[in-house]
Amino acid sequence: MAVIIELKQVSFAAQQKTIVQDLSYQFEEGKTTALAGPSGGGKSTVLKLSAGLLVPSRGKVCFRGQDVSLMNREQNLAFRREGAVVFQDSALWANQNLDQILELPLRIHFPSMTKPERNHRIREVLAEVGYKKELEIRPAQLSMGEQKLIAFARAMLCRPRLLFLDEWTESLDDTAAHRLITLVKRMQEAGHTIIFVTHNLNLIMSLADYMLVIRGGTLSLRLTKAEMNSDEDLIRSIEQEINL
Ligand SMILES: Nc1ncnc2c1ncn2[C@@H]1O[C@H](COP(=O)(O)OP(=O)(O)O)[C@@H](O)[C@H]1O
Ligand SMILES: [Mg+2]
Repeated sequence: MAVIIELKQVSFAAQQKTIVQDLSYQFEEGKTTALAGPSGGGKSTVLKLSAGLLVPSRGKVCFRGQDVSLMNREQNLAFRREGAVVFQDSALWANQNLDQILELPLRIHFPSMTKPERNHRIREVLAEVGYKKELEIRPAQLSMGEQKLIAFARAMLCRPRLLFLDEWTESLDDTAAHRLITLVKRMQEAGHTIIFVTHNLNLIMSLADYMLVIRGGTLSLRLTKAEMNSDEDLIRSIEQEINL
């Protein structure tokens, strides 16, 4: 098994509060792992730690065996380009228009790209996610669902091979959600790695190779696809808890 991201005895504290406690896990390359659990259990924090966006208070996070906190600028850029994140709150720059927001990753990761080439790539991903409105507006003028589409498009721009998705279908209508699910399935078929947070059990059952249940900042359960499919009672009890 090839490990792409490893959490080694990771703890994370903020404002004197322990949010993640001594969590170890190896995310398998080319597989899809779903993080589930009650609200406030630490899913988003674990996702951000895994993406190298939060620094653990203890322990370490490794990307392909390399400690993320010891990466130089070049290694960090390579990690950022390969692994893209869709945040739970979309996290779009409030004071930029959508075109500027979508240009930024291309400017950073492909500095030799021309403006027409960037425009072309932006149009391409917007068509894939199904965003049809103009780009000369700011995120505040979009619905939550539209913001999610832009956040997803931003993540796809640099053709990532590792995706971190936080509650990525939650504020979308069925058509838009279906479109993003199709994109994720295409990533899976290409052998890419997906780590996602959701409250939607159907999504987990249809996409995930592994399901992790995060409760109280710790990993309380790990199920394989086969285990998920064979133990319906357990799945229903998890569903009840997740929907609380
Ligand atoms: N930077 C922070 N400072 C203080 N508390 C935080 C911070 N980030 C998260 N928390 C708290 O940690 C707990 C877990 O948060 P989170 O990872 O967002 O959970 P989940 O995504 O499972 O709902 C919550 O109680 C949240 O309020
Ligand atoms: Mg969350």
